[in-house]
Amino acid sequence: MNQTEVIPKNIVLIGFMGSGKSTVGRELHQRLGYSLTDMDQLIEETMGKKITEIFKEEGETAFRDFETLQLIEIAKQTESRHIVSTGGGIVIRPENRKLLRNLGYVVWLHAPGDVIYERTARNKDRPLLNLPNARERIDTLMAEREPWYCEAAHLKIDTAGLDSKEIATGILESARYFFTHPI
Ligand code: S3P
Repeated sequence: MNQTEVIPKNIVLIGFMGSGKSTVGRELHQRLGYSLTDMDQLIEETMGKKITEIFKEEGETAFRDFETLQLIEIAKQTESRHIVSTGGGIVIRPENRKLLRNLGYVVWLHAPGDVIYERTARNKDRPLLNLPNARERIDTLMAEREPWYCEAAHLKIDTAGLDSKEIATGILESARYFFTHPI
């Protein structure tokens, strides 16, 4: 079957916390003019709370349930020419990985643990890293999640040493190829 017939022309960004999904999503949005959904932002707007509050008051499972519901909604409403920037834990659930693959061209932004730590250490908005042993936690979560990112992604980009414009350029070039040369 021709993959371009089944995979809509959307770009979906996945990757660990601090891997640059939101920034690269905005860059792609500006360059392509495709609409943009930042899932974390959407969840905060819909629930009227910060993610840290959702985790604290309702727990991680409630957050994950809501995240999956949002992804189902996005998949239903999104036809084509859309950028979706996801939360780092979206790949945990197998049903999400399947939804992501069918939603568009899935790009995994990867960065080494030290880089992730540098980028996230001062920000207290990520409940899973808001811990004294955040550096070790990054390694543990990354090791656990790597196979899931790998399963969901059509493309992995090693972002170390690249700025968001360079990353976006790489994504655009490969997306053009992906959508015109089905695999
Ligand atoms: C999470 C990543 C966060 C946010 C939540 C949980 C995760 O998004 O969805 O704090 O489990 O990795 P970012 O990847 O945008 O930080």
